[in-house]
This record gives sequence, C-alpha cells and structure tokens, in this order.
Amino acid sequence: MAAMGPLGDSYALRCVSDLPPPFRPVFGFRYFNSLQSECFPVCFLSDVNMVVSAPTGSGKTVLFELCILRLLSRFLTTDWWFNLLKGTLKTIYIAPMKALVQEKMRDWKVKLGSLGINCLEMTGDSEFFNKKAIHDSDLILTTPEVYVTTCFASYYDLNKPLLLQTISLFLLTNICMQKFDSMSRHGVRDGGLGFFSDIALVLIDEVHLLNDPRGAALEAVVSRIKMLSRLGNMKSAPLANVRFIAVSATISNAEDIAEWLLAPPEGIKRFGEEMRPVKLTTKVLGYAPAKNDFLFERRLQSFIFDILMQHSRGKSALVFCSTRKGAQEAAQCLSQTAGSLGYSNPFMKSMQQYEHLREASLTCSDKQLQSCIVYGVGFHNGGLCLKDRSLVEGLFLKGDLQILCTTNTLAHGINLPAHTVVIKSTQFFNKEKGSY
Ligand SMILES: Nc1ncnc2c1ncn2[C@@H]1O[C@H](COP(=O)(O)OP(=O)(O)OP(=O)(O)O)[C@@H](O)[C@H]1O
Ligand SMILES: [Mg+2]
Repeated sequence: MAAMGPLGDSYALRCVSDLPPPFRPVFGFRYFNSLQSECFPVCFLSDVNMVVSAPTGSGKTVLFELCILRLLSRFLTTDWWFNLLKGTLKTIYIAPMKALVQEKMRDWKVKLGSLGINCLEMTGDSEFFNKKAIHDSDLILTTPEVYVTTCFASYYDLNKPLLLQTISLFLLTNICMQKFDSMSRHGVRDGGLGFFSDIALVLIDEVHLLNDPRGAALEAVVSRIKMLSRLGNMKSAPLANVRFIAVSATISNAEDIAEWLLAPPEGIKRFGEEMRPVKLTTKVLGYAPAKNDFLFERRLQSFIFDILMQHSRGKSALVFCSTRKGAQEAAQCLSQTAGSLGYSNPFMKSMQQYEHLREASLTCSDKQLQSCIVYGVGFHNGGLCLKDRSLVEGLFLKGDLQILCTTNTLAHGINLPAHTVVIKSTQFFNKEKGSY
C-alpha cells in the first residue's frame, strides 16, 4: 500500500496513478475531484460501511467504483498482476430505477469489462436470469423489487420471476420476512441461493428514496443480506464480512441510515452545495390559480415555451412534468408552437440537425414521439419502449434534440446534462394516498 501515495493530506487531490496499475484504465480522467479525494482513504484503503450524501453531479459513482476496486484488489498479486477468480466475490448494485440500472450497466460493462468483470443486469427488461449467469457474475445490477422476486424465483425454482413481480410489493415483503429463514437455509443448501454467500459488497444508489414504497423492498433486501451474513455456516464465506455503501443526493438523516447499515463515524460523509460542479440559479414563477388542479396543470403548458425562450436561450433544456401523459402533452404543445414558426423554429439550429432528427424519427416506434422530434422536442417517460428511450437519450446527449419533456424517472441519477431545467408544477398525484 506504500506505493499508493501519501495518506492524510486532506487538501491534495488524489491522482488516478495512486491506484495499482491494473486499475488505472477504469477512470477516464487523471485526478479525483475534492469529494472523491476526501473519500478515497475510506473507500479504497478501508473496508468500513459508508453513507455518503452529496449533491447531484458531484461524482458519487466514482466512490462506488473505488469500493469495487478495493474488493478486487484481493485478486492482485504482489507484482501487480490481476488474477480474477470469476464470480467468487460478488458486488450487488441496487438502484431505485430501472433506467439507472441500465445506465450503470452500459457504463460498467465498458469500464470494468477490461478487467474481465462479468456484469449482470437484473431488471424487468432483462428477460430472465438463470442460476448459471448469476453464479458466474461478479457485479449484479438490480432494482430492489426485482432482487426480492428473483430470490423467490430461485427458491421456488421458477424461471419467470417477472410473473412474480405482479404480486403486490407489500405482500412480497411480508412473505419475504416470514419465509426468510427457511428460504435462506434451503437456498444455501441446494445451491439455488448459493450466490448469496459470495456477496462481498452491496452498493445502494439514491438511498434517499427509502421512504417511498420501493424502500420496503430495499429494506427487505438489506435485512436479508444482514441476517444471512450472521449465520454460522457463512463464517468462512465473503458474505460474513459484507460491506455496505449507500449514497444519495442530499439527506438530512444520514445518521439514521448509517445506524441501519452499521457505518462507523468515519464512514459517514456529508457534502453540501459547495460541491456542485456547476452553480445553480433558481427562479420560482407563480401563476394565477385555475378552477381546479387539473385545469391549472393544463394551463401551465402554455407558459413553457415563453419560459424556455427567456431562460434557455438556444441551449438544452429539460422540462419535468408530474405525469407520463403530462410530459407527452408538453412535448406536443412545444413542438406545435415551434413547428408553426417554420424556419424560425428556435429549437432547430442547422439543416444537419434537422436531417439527424428526421432520420432518427423514422426508427421511432412511438408515433407521438416521431411527430415531435422532427421539431427538436422529445419526451421521455416510462411508457416508451426501451429502444425509443435510448434513442431520445442519445439525441439529447448529442445536442440534436434541444428540448426534452420528462417525468421524474429521469431525475434519479441519469446523466443528461442540460443548461435549463423547468419543473412544471410542484404537485403530483400520489396513487397510494389517493391525493395530490
Ligand atoms: N474526477 C472526475 N473528473 C472528471 N469528471 C468526473 C470526475 N468524477 C466524476 N466525473 C463525471 O461527472 C459526472 C457526474 O458524475 P456522477 O454521475 O457520478 O454524479 P452523481 O454524484 O452520482 O450525481 P447524481 O446525484 O445525479 O447521481 C459524470 O459524467 C462523471 O463522468
Ligand atoms: Mg449517481
């Protein structure tokens, strides 16, 4: 470890070359930022559980990567060779949204693939997962619900965990708790849940969503892992010393989460707005109420175009809407206004951009989306198929699509940088509560 550079200087930025040579190509930059540098000793030079709260875009993913590399450093030889024993030390990455899991999957497949790390996505979009694929994987990326159902699927030896996903989450987590003990013992014996014993690291992204219904599934998963890790027959398994890292945007109760995950004080890291790489200017605009909330929502639609003209000034913008339909309608409304301006369409910069969009629109399955994107406006929501969603994400990232109307699905950790963000209405309908 002496070759990894000096410790304890909290002002110096850590360098990627502080890492053992086989790990350096994982990062596409030379220096860790100040947040990452401060967390470096805890992430990469210790094995303690951690809870990190820091603003969006501050680079928290790198902290996960440092923890993964810490685990993988057990496969390093004294002369810096990397000898991976496939599937023997597993990392589980849990994120609340499918889209986030898929983004990380794409990213880590490339970054960690060169080390021979086997990544496996377990979401509703990956058809089914067989025992062998799970057994051979080093990094499993999943959402809490799918993780719970998959464990059940392997317990009952079904190959279609998706069927089980239709069972209400509440029921599932209850069953989970009741059946937990017998299931784990059964699974460990017959190899169905054998992979549990290989879990050495659990990464929890966006942990602030714990108080949402999804949180119940996450709690169940974490509790199960914690309980299993304490079983006598796990003593010599990696699971016995499983490490938890939870990161979130900004939370006020980092201590509660730390207590839950048994993170010691040095494992709790909190960073404020000063860590934001780009400073934010916030403007709140008020509008006269309408007869009811529904009509008010509708009316807000007509203000978006002017707001964009005023603030986004030809740069990329995201418009967050409270519902899938709202996002679609906002995009339609904007594209109609822009389209009616013909050659003065403010969202269209060049003939080349128009050609890209026209070509892309031909490959689009959703007809509404197809008609919007030719005017430089797209929408992104859970109702679109995976292909259309990736198409829209790609067009927005490249700058061909200047305006993207979306739901909060996109807000959780997906990297689509934008100059302006409009949050249309601050209310949303909560299905569970039956109210706004
Ligand atoms: N040290 C670094 N040097 C240069 N770029 C970096 C560095 N660390 C992270 N980045 C880049 O910063 C961007 C944001 O990083 P990341 O997605 O990890 O943020 P985050 O904190 O997880 O944000 P969110 O709360 O939105 O999930 C990414 O594009 C990433 O590649
Ligand atoms: Mg993130």
